[in-house]
Amino acid sequence: MKGAVFTIFQEMVEETFGFECWETLLQEANLPSGGIYTSADTYDDQEIIELVTALSNYTGTPVPDLVESFGGYLFPALAHSMPESMMNYSDLWSLLEAVDSVIHVEVGKLYPDAITPKLVVTEKTDQQLKMHYQSPRKLCLLAIGLIHKAAEKFGDTINISHECCMHEGSDHCILVITQEN
Ligand code: HEM
Repeated sequence: MKGAVFTIFQEMVEETFGFECWETLLQEANLPSGGIYTSADTYDDQEIIELVTALSNYTGTPVPDLVESFGGYLFPALAHSMPESMMNYSDLWSLLEAVDSVIHVEVGKLYPDAITPKLVVTEKTDQQLKMHYQSPRKLCLLAIGLIHKAAEKFGDTINISHECCMHEGSDHCILVITQEN
């Protein structure tokens, strides 16, 4: 996972739970990097799992809830790292269609060792959009947190349901996003 994701995670922990919480996580988690992250470098995925698990122990909040809320924190931070012209979408559906074909492609050019998920729009009406999520990291809940935050940016109220999930043995997840307003 790119260092950028770790530095944003650190920011979220320090802002939400305080500096001493981050210090505790560093002591509790087994981190070969020592917990010092640089945006452009890449670190073992296991380190983010260690950190989220330690945060769950510290806060008592279940890991899945923390992953989803981290997605909400991650979206604006990642979006700001892109040139403004690249994030200039007129509505949520256009943004979601661009994640796989434009946004993550640009991420791959910037960081050739980045591993982004497959996130393909398979069906779309004005009210509903279906996306297939596939990644060995199985971070579908992170995707859900990112999508909710993206919807907020457009003033949309959405509901996301998980039609099938990699955590339940499927080889991909289906996310059904419905406009509620
Ligand atoms: C709603 C919009 C977006 C969704 C649903 C989404 C989804 C995801 C997910 C789920 C991951 C975790 C990796 C995985 O599952 O394999 C990820 C990674 C990442 N995404 Fe996105 N993303 C979105 C927007 C963006 C934007 C705007 C950027 C801007 C730079 C971005 C850059 C990245 C980067 C740098 C990674 C880490 C790759 C790595 O560590 O190798 N994403 N994205």
